[in-house]
Amino acid sequence: MSDPRPFYITTPIYYVNGTPHIGHAYTTIAADTLARWQRSRGRRVRFLTGTDEHGQKVLQAAVARGMSPKQHCDDIVTVWKDVMRGLQISYDRFLRTTDDDHVAVVQGVLQRLWNEGEIYKDEYTGWYSAAAERFWTEKDLVDGRCPDTGLAVEKITETNYFFRMSAYRERLIAHIETHPDFIQPGSRRNEVLGFLRRPLEDLCISRPKTRMSWGIELPFDRDYVTYVWFDALLNYLTGAGYRPDAPAADATWWPADYQLLGKDILTTHAVYWTTMLMALDVPLPRHLYAHGWWTTKSGEKMSKSLGNTIDVALLCRSFGLDAVRYFLLREIAFGHDGGFSYEGFLTRYNADLADKLGNLAHRGLSMTINWLGGVVPELGARTSAEDELVARAERAVETYTQALERLQFDEALEGLWDLVRAGNKYIDTEQPWTLNKQGQTERLGTVLRHVLEICFVAGTLLRPVMPGKAAELLSRLGRTEDASEAWLREALAGDVAHLDALPVGDALSLGEPLFPRHKEFPEPLASALAPAPAPAPLVSEPKKEEKKVTKTVSPHDPGEPITYDDFARVKLRVGRVVHAEPHPNADKLMVLKVDAGEAEPRTIVAGIRSKFAPEDLVGRNVVIVANLKPAKLRGVESHGMLLAAGGAEVVDLVTVDAAPGDVVR
Ligand code: MSP
Repeated sequence: MSDPRPFYITTPIYYVNGTPHIGHAYTTIAADTLARWQRSRGRRVRFLTGTDEHGQKVLQAAVARGMSPKQHCDDIVTVWKDVMRGLQISYDRFLRTTDDDHVAVVQGVLQRLWNEGEIYKDEYTGWYSAAAERFWTEKDLVDGRCPDTGLAVEKITETNYFFRMSAYRERLIAHIETHPDFIQPGSRRNEVLGFLRRPLEDLCISRPKTRMSWGIELPFDRDYVTYVWFDALLNYLTGAGYRPDAPAADATWWPADYQLLGKDILTTHAVYWTTMLMALDVPLPRHLYAHGWWTTKSGEKMSKSLGNTIDVALLCRSFGLDAVRYFLLREIAFGHDGGFSYEGFLTRYNADLADKLGNLAHRGLSMTINWLGGVVPELGARTSAEDELVARAERAVETYTQALERLQFDEALEGLWDLVRAGNKYIDTEQPWTLNKQGQTERLGTVLRHVLEICFVAGTLLRPVMPGKAAELLSRLGRTEDASEAWLREALAGDVAHLDALPVGDALSLGEPLFPRHKEFPEPLASALAPAPAPAPLVSEPKKEEKKVTKTVSPHDPGEPITYDDFARVKLRVGRVVHAEPHPNADKLMVLKVDAGEAEPRTIVAGIRSKFAPEDLVGRNVVIVANLKPAKLRGVESHGMLLAAGGAEVVDLVTVDAAPGDVVR
């Protein structure tokens, strides 16, 4: 039934030091599905997402591109918005931490907490990790390095501003203990309680502008900006309509029903965020849900810094957006980690979508169109086979509804697929083709009507997960008007599970298969995954017996002719150098980050240090061999190589006036 209580759901806001990848898509698609689901249940929904634009990482990314931080953010944010549009994310607000209303909220909160003595000034000595943008204590360090990034830390003594976080430790423990569903899943709740059992320090919430100026100024000390997390977490209140000088109850959407986050940012949300809210006298969110990570097959977290992420846009172009949304939510239980593989994707796509749901729809529609005039047939007398189907449909709707309310997307979809599988089996046992041959038209109509009704249940329930394909399926069943949210609410609250909802006589249409079966990876994925050619060193090591001969070969000798096909295997692309630094363990090597128009800049290690300094390289558009097998060069993995002129010594780089990602032939 319709529930008038509004529903507020948030995703973390994403750093704009890079472009979106599978991990970001995952949180956002999960939140989008819940937002769509709650809207379809009749609730007024506020769905907030956005970008985290301040801080050192973003500043560094901007500097590497030779832009001001704001210019860089304005540019990258368009990529994020495009990706969200491509994923059909139905957010109500896309908040940027550089938005004026957010800056006003952050400054208002800082001023209030300062006036109330919740913030104080102190001198602090700690180990600062520029990569993690935070201080660590001596005991936090692992082998003298940042425990989060493994990178070097610097001992810094600094005067800073601190939030009295420690004062709220007991209250927070009590809240978590008395609200068992507050932090989900349960294992994460225990993790936070474990963390809180140790002494809790106050939180350093400022950075002197002399060290890092890209942030929101402290209103009571213009020489400082606020710590990026203090700024970022408050986005959830800005997006809820909160104003620091008004009562918390005036914030229309607060408290949030669900705040989704990855498990790596659990402490910042479950401890920093909650204590900030307590200091502000604002109620805590109803639920914090920490999901797991997409990893490589070998269990390594996919991340932009490791350069091992999946290009979601490529996956969508190859299999369709809805298949990607389905896979991400179906493959792993929300809250657990899961390994991604393209083979796994193809297998599930074929098994669940092509062979089960797509097949059911195609069989039901084509037989009705061929034998019964292409309209929804009358329901005749039901036998025990149909009674069993109705019982399954009721179970599927119930399971789906219950599981989605608990964010168990995989369980919800599995519950629905139980019905879809039963539908296919029903066709096999009832054999409509035999009924048709025998002229048993009434029974044939009853059987096919049940198949169509199951498709109708699937189309209805799948709308939040697969908005496009579900609407397509419903329209083939003659339900073009069913896009309205009100209708969906009624269908769910009403009799959709009774398998008698479709109006008799409505026209059906067959269309192309909803999910065509793929024996192999479809394009463009197939090309992207084509095996890289064996690494062909530019100067090949001469075979023993050839040694004498090669000694006499002139360097200008072009060598053995190759065919065009040989050449075509080498994929040359334009790449813009966005960052360059000397290799930590090799004098001749430079480690570059090269934007080749892909989701993430790639790391390329090049032997060009004798000729170039980092500042000579950043901003240059070079030509790279994009499909060279990755290789570790003195401990740093290189993904490709640059084309350069010269023999043993590099003379110059091949540069072009073209955009990153452009093909070079
Ligand atoms: N800006 C902060 C969040 C501030 S919220 C007030 C941040 N940004 S992020 O861009 O680095 O990451 C955002 C989200 O993406 C996190 O929830 C993170 O867990 C998620 N993912 C990043 N990589 C991931 C996977 N490989 N798998 C699943 N999600 C992961 O942190």
